[in-house]
Amino acid sequence: MNETMNETMNETMNEVFMNTYHRLPVTFVSGEGSYLFDTEGRRRLDFTSGIAVNCLGHGHPALREALASQSAKLFHVSNYYQCDTTALFAEKLVAAARMNKVFLCNSGAEANEGACKIARKYSSKKYGEGRHTIVTLLGSFHGRTITTLAATGQERFHKDFGPFTEGFRFVELDDTRALEAALDDTVCGVLFEAIQGESGVRPASADFIKTAAEICAKKDILLMFDEIQCGLGRTGSFFAFENYGVEADVATLAKGLAGGLPVGAVLAGEKAAGVFETGDHGSTFGGNPLAAACGTVVIDTVNKPAFLREIALKGAYLTGKLEGLRSPAITAIRGRGLMVAADLTVDAWPVLEKLLERGLLVLGAGQKTLRFLPPYTITKDEIDEGIDILAGTLKDAG
Ligand SMILES: Cc1ncc(COP(=O)(O)O)c(C=O)c1O
Repeated sequence: MNETMNETMNETMNEVFMNTYHRLPVTFVSGEGSYLFDTEGRRRLDFTSGIAVNCLGHGHPALREALASQSAKLFHVSNYYQCDTTALFAEKLVAAARMNKVFLCNSGAEANEGACKIARKYSSKKYGEGRHTIVTLLGSFHGRTITTLAATGQERFHKDFGPFTEGFRFVELDDTRALEAALDDTVCGVLFEAIQGESGVRPASADFIKTAAEICAKKDILLMFDEIQCGLGRTGSFFAFENYGVEADVATLAKGLAGGLPVGAVLAGEKAAGVFETGDHGSTFGGNPLAAACGTVVIDTVNKPAFLREIALKGAYLTGKLEGLRSPAITAIRGRGLMVAADLTVDAWPVLEKLLERGLLVLGAGQKTLRFLPPYTITKDEIDEGIDILAGTLKDAG
């Protein structure tokens, strides 16, 4: 596909799709490991993993094999019947998460909806009506449905979409005093990202998370973590909240859970595992066998101490390389494991476009922040290659 054909594709997409995405001018047709290939056969190094989805890279042999073999047997069966593939996945996921039970769905927003319903019902059954507030953080991102937008502490996502589901209250990240004040007798749950992804890779402080856990335990408020971006090994532990030495009552996963197929999960510990009863919740595609077959591969691969250690080491290597650039265009570097951000002195979007031209895919997270979410399978040589491209681009950006 030449330049003109690429433009035609752009026009076609603009014509048929609702105008929700700002798409970059490239058409990808295949992927292998850490690289995506466009219509000309030109490769780009992928430091985005499809926004934390392709966690095992592109075209992982075990994922290909699992998908092919499951697709030869069964695409879908409704949740009115049992399914061996889905059962195996759920069993492995619950064990890896060290939780008691799981509800499977299709996306992050759907998983967070499920979590909010669990918190509300837990409280309603135990304490009656009125104890339904869920506390989330300013700067958080929890999804695009009306309820998960209500949970999202960023004004810019709210404009024009109200009225929202009521009963959400925001506190500033790491403002322990505000948290203590917010957790009053009307609260049934808190929903936190241990590391905020969309607002620029912002880890919560240990003091903040520990205080939250203590108050939640004392007041019987469900401690819920949205691990959709920071979980599933990305920071070098299965869940990012594990780094804080706390235990979650509920944790949500999605994105990379099936390595590229849509799946979401609401995981519940002892307190919350029995909240949903027959008929309380459901999802037609939740636990779909194709996604479940791939999910089993992801869990089998990621949930190994040596593999998780490698993620942490590669993350430290990436962060070290970014620091080593000593670029005047970078003002701060944050992150944990393979979830890293660099604040810039300039707007991120033009840099991101230049990086695409030069062969590197990265994400933005806020106006002046670059975000790096490479696949867990990335090699040190590939990290070096990406850093070289970034160095040259930042130099030219001034
Ligand atoms: C932390 C977090 N929660 C929820 C979501 C929503 O997930 P989905 O787009 O699969 O609905 C996202 C997506 O970026 C996310 O980063």
